Amino acid sequence: MSTVVIVGAGQAGYQVAASLRDKGYPGRVVLVGNEPGIPYQRPPLSKAYLTGALADTRLALRPMTFYAKHDIELVAGHAVGIDRECHRLRLADGRELEYGHLVLATGTRNRELSVPGAQLDGVLGLRTKADADRIRRRLGTARDIVVIGGGFIGLEFAASAAKLGLTVTVVEVADRVMRRAVSPVVSQHYEALHERHGNRVVRGVPVAGLHGTQHVTAVELADGTVLLAGVVVVGIGVVPNTELAAEAGLAVDNGVVVDTHMSTSDPDISAIGDCAAYPSRHTGRHVRLESVQNAVDHARCLAARLTGTAEPYTSLPWFWSEQFDARLQIAGISDGYDNAVVRGDPAEGAFSVFCFRGERLVAVESVNRVPDHMAARRLLEAGRSLRPADVVDSFDLRSYAAAS
Ligand code: APR
Repeated sequence: MSTVVIVGAGQAGYQVAASLRDKGYPGRVVLVGNEPGIPYQRPPLSKAYLTGALADTRLALRPMTFYAKHDIELVAGHAVGIDRECHRLRLADGRELEYGHLVLATGTRNRELSVPGAQLDGVLGLRTKADADRIRRRLGTARDIVVIGGGFIGLEFAASAAKLGLTVTVVEVADRVMRRAVSPVVSQHYEALHERHGNRVVRGVPVAGLHGTQHVTAVELADGTVLLAGVVVVGIGVVPNTELAAEAGLAVDNGVVVDTHMSTSDPDISAIGDCAAYPSRHTGRHVRLESVQNAVDHARCLAARLTGTAEPYTSLPWFWSEQFDARLQIAGISDGYDNAVVRGDPAEGAFSVFCFRGERLVAVESVNRVPDHMAARRLLEAGRSLRPADVVDSFDLRSYAAAS
């Protein structure tokens, strides 16, 4: 059995290694990662890990002993080149690893802010454990905190900072927060939630520049507003790490392009997780998603193929975000919807938004409505819909979905 080399030891990379062993793969499994330490969970970095509620030791996906026990070789290194003809992966320190199958699970990196002053000390991103540790150290003495980007990361960080007794100003360039991912009702709910907890949300104004000599002192907006800032956290989205694939001549289009089996155009190279653009059964086009569900399910699909039980990837995407006491869960992909119907009451802090394209349900966004989310997943997985008129509390959604 040939060696599987996995580039990237995040959620997707870890999962494919674990699933290969789970399914009895007998060959070598090598997991190459360029971050210090063993694979860890990212979602707590902006939440429980940041506030100190989750200890360092509980961040790891598995303890070190897991890798020895399952004969998964962890290699600390940064991959810089693929020789497809010789089946070799080149690392930055000159080492080469021979592969039978290569898995690209390289993930994404933070999009960088491109305004004057963006390189000042105290301007921080939040993606890795090292980023979270850096922010935590600063928060000890921080006074004025500005978050640039009102997406998942920026808002989760802002909620964590509020929990620590700090108040934050969130600057979002779009006309509402989390615009990329949710409907206006949900955006408004979260904006009000942050404001109730003392955070401020400034929308619809670009950042003109950051002030300071060595250390950041203020953020200036395009309308002339100046916000004092001792710490600036930037969460303005991510870009996929596709350079390795592109340089090896593989197709790249907002992600490494793969087929329904997570295979690139080279049958000996696959791509999974945040870096992969795959054909979605649920949207009818290629999508690149950033979520734990996506990483785990891609990895399992690929491990099944590499152990002889290939099935096309069909999993339903779902996402979550936690801010204060509001648990947002999203089932499906809502882009392209033309009708949003609310079930429950936003004023009471528990509601769902059912997004339809025509008569077809495409996504459901739930806030503190776990049963709605679970029912939505069942329906969407089964390709079933319900009538917009049935989106009312008196409708027995659970039984209806259970019949799927
Ligand atoms: N100034 C202010 N806001 C900006 C700017 C800018 N120059 N550029 C982009 N934004 C806003 C976008 O409008 C968007 O609302 O930043 C937000 C970025 O949100 P996301 O795209 O959700 O990205 P981010 O919050 O960085 O999260 C990155 O990590 O945990 C995952 O699921 C999360 O996939 C997400 C990823």
